[in-house]
Amino acid sequence: MSRFDQKICLVTGGASGIGRATCEALGARGAHVVVTDIDEAAGCDAAAAVGGEFAHLDVSDRDAWRSVVQGIVAAHGGLDLVHLNAGVTTYPAAGGGFPAVDIAAIPADVYRRTMSVNVDGVVFGVGATVQALENRGGGAIVVTASVAGLGTWEVDPLYTMTKHAVVGLVRSLAPSLAQRGITLNAICPAAVDTKIFGPEAEDFVRETGLRLMPPSQVADAVIEAAAGGETGQCWVCYDGHDPKLYIPAPLPGLDD
Ligand SMILES: NC(=O)c1ccc[n+]([C@@H]2O[C@H](COP(=O)([O-])OP(=O)(O)OC[C@H]3O[C@@H](n4cnc5c(N)ncnc54)[C@H](O)[C@@H]3O)[C@@H](O)[C@H]2O)c1
Repeated sequence: MSRFDQKICLVTGGASGIGRATCEALGARGAHVVVTDIDEAAGCDAAAAVGGEFAHLDVSDRDAWRSVVQGIVAAHGGLDLVHLNAGVTTYPAAGGGFPAVDIAAIPADVYRRTMSVNVDGVVFGVGATVQALENRGGGAIVVTASVAGLGTWEVDPLYTMTKHAVVGLVRSLAPSLAQRGITLNAICPAAVDTKIFGPEAEDFVRETGLRLMPPSQVADAVIEAAAGGETGQCWVCYDGHDPKLYIPAPLPGLDD
């Protein structure tokens, strides 16, 4: 029997790409998966494929988070695993044509949307689910950040900023959640073969020779991070390799 058998798992952005692959990996291990997304049709399809349930959830909406989690607690008592995965880039509105970025020209609504999905979605998601995780004796939260959260990615600086924010949250919040029996880790993939890359970006990725990994590889890393018992860690994933633990450099004068 798998350690995920009968576990109650919630995945955001579960209708596509990495989120869908995680739903499939969890479903294959016997988990009950609550697939959430704003894309109802694809979300219902993903839920049906894993024998789970679908809940419409815009991760940037705090009230929606409360109501979805209340429904899960009423039906199942709580949660065991939360994968905060939904995310967007600023394309195709970055201005100047991909991959040029004109910071002054980025429409305010694109900026707000990127911040609200990638940052609010994680903050609200952690806040809304910790009690439900505690209800079932503790559990795991895994956030999909990015290698852009650890380094630089000049083709989308705003996206990069949001992923740095998420990494900072994971590393700083993990110790207090540990006292409640909850682990909090980030998966930081390089390029993954999903629809987040629109057609323009796909050409760019092809030209740069980046090797796209299948979403299932990231899903396996999510499962490992959730099951591994470590917390506050970032795991770097790139094509064809096991997830690698990110070791931050010591702060000069403070850590040495
Ligand atoms: N694809 C990559 O190369 C790559 C690399 C590193 C990190 N990531 C991260 O992986 C995560 C998943 O992206 P993906 O590559 O699978 O892309 P994807 O576009 O295939 O899937 C993203 C899903 O999120 C959903 N979504 C968008 N806005 C939402 C909202 N407000 N509320 C709820 N759901 C919403 C979409 O409907 C979609 O189903 C993102 O956080 C992304 O930043 C992707």
